Amino acid sequence: MPTQGKSVEAFADQLMDMLNQGALSLMVSIGHRTGLFDALAELPATTLTQIANHTGLNQRYVKEWLATMVSGGILDYDPQQQHYSLPDSHAALLTRSSSPDNMAVFAQYIGLMGQVEDKVIDCFRLGGGVGYEHYPRFHEVMADDSGQTVLAALDEHILPLIDSLIPSLESGIRVLDIGCGRGRALCHLAARFPNSRFVGYELSEEALDYARNAARQMGLDNLRFEQRDLTGFEKRAEMDEFDLVTAFDAIHDQTTPQSVLNGIHKTLKSGGTFLMQDIRASSHLEKNIDHPIGPLLYTLSTMHCMTVSLSNGGAGLGTMWGEEQALEMLSIAGFDSVAVHQLDHDIQNNFYVMRKA
Ligand SMILES: C[S@@+](CC[C@H](N)C(=O)[O-])C[C@H]1O[C@@H](n2cnc3c(N)ncnc32)[C@H](O)[C@@H]1O
Repeated sequence: MPTQGKSVEAFADQLMDMLNQGALSLMVSIGHRTGLFDALAELPATTLTQIANHTGLNQRYVKEWLATMVSGGILDYDPQQQHYSLPDSHAALLTRSSSPDNMAVFAQYIGLMGQVEDKVIDCFRLGGGVGYEHYPRFHEVMADDSGQTVLAALDEHILPLIDSLIPSLESGIRVLDIGCGRGRALCHLAARFPNSRFVGYELSEEALDYARNAARQMGLDNLRFEQRDLTGFEKRAEMDEFDLVTAFDAIHDQTTPQSVLNGIHKTLKSGGTFLMQDIRASSHLEKNIDHPIGPLLYTLSTMHCMTVSLSNGGAGLGTMWGEEQALEMLSIAGFDSVAVHQLDHDIQNNFYVMRKA
């Protein structure tokens, strides 16, 4: 069915709401990064001066931020007492202690993407893409994000998706994580399963420094991180090396995603398992119209996932490459039987589980 427009009045309301919510997203990100939400959750009803003193932040800026939050329905305000407060039900979705439900983490992407707007506009005119190096804080925000979507769900929800994986990890297997970023999932697994050996492949030196440092601090000697450019991975992948390969949100923005999938198949031992977490969506726009975060994900695609791939002349699959295309590409790589799992609490991801024959 073709989509239909709204009346001018209804569309004007939608646009106004969009401007307000877009602006609020940026300020929610600031509330997260400055610790203002955490402070408000600790203080009951409080004045501007108390909040500014508690956080050590500039009072004039805090005042403007508080006004935004009150007018945006995020904070309560008592004008008589001049008291600001964060309702418990809002704190449950905005503070560090509310992780993995802290939605302020995701608001950080709005400011991050805004930083490359000019470069992306150039790409609209000239083609090409914007490379990873132009995204300050990308790995920090990504690790914050996957700390909630992957790390927090790993033990209870993700590992149990694979039959007998936990006993195998306990006895000792070889595990590779593709595009491991800051390596939080790997550090967690290496600490929990000391008999298994873990490797992370990652391009970013900055992310690798962070990951190696974290592993050192945790005293892990069964984990190493390798700087590898996975472009054309199938040529360089070692044959029959790993019992388990994981890829958390790390396939669709690759320069050569098909070659990475082919390489994963090659580097798995026969009977080994590939676990791929990637965006839950269809490859067809008409099936994504009611997607609960469709506009957000198509925006992140344009402003990051698609453009980083295109910056190297890559496939530019985009965030919304979708389940149909994922299954087709996995089949080309040699994975014919793929189970697609979804977790009740996670509207954003599919978990694809498959074995090499
Ligand atoms: C969306 S992030 C996911 C990071 C991590 N798996 C997580 O869940 O936090 C994708 C990762 O793939 C890495 N990556 C992208 N292209 C790469 C390439 N050609 N070779 C190696 N790593 C690459 C990026 O640096 C980034 O860390």
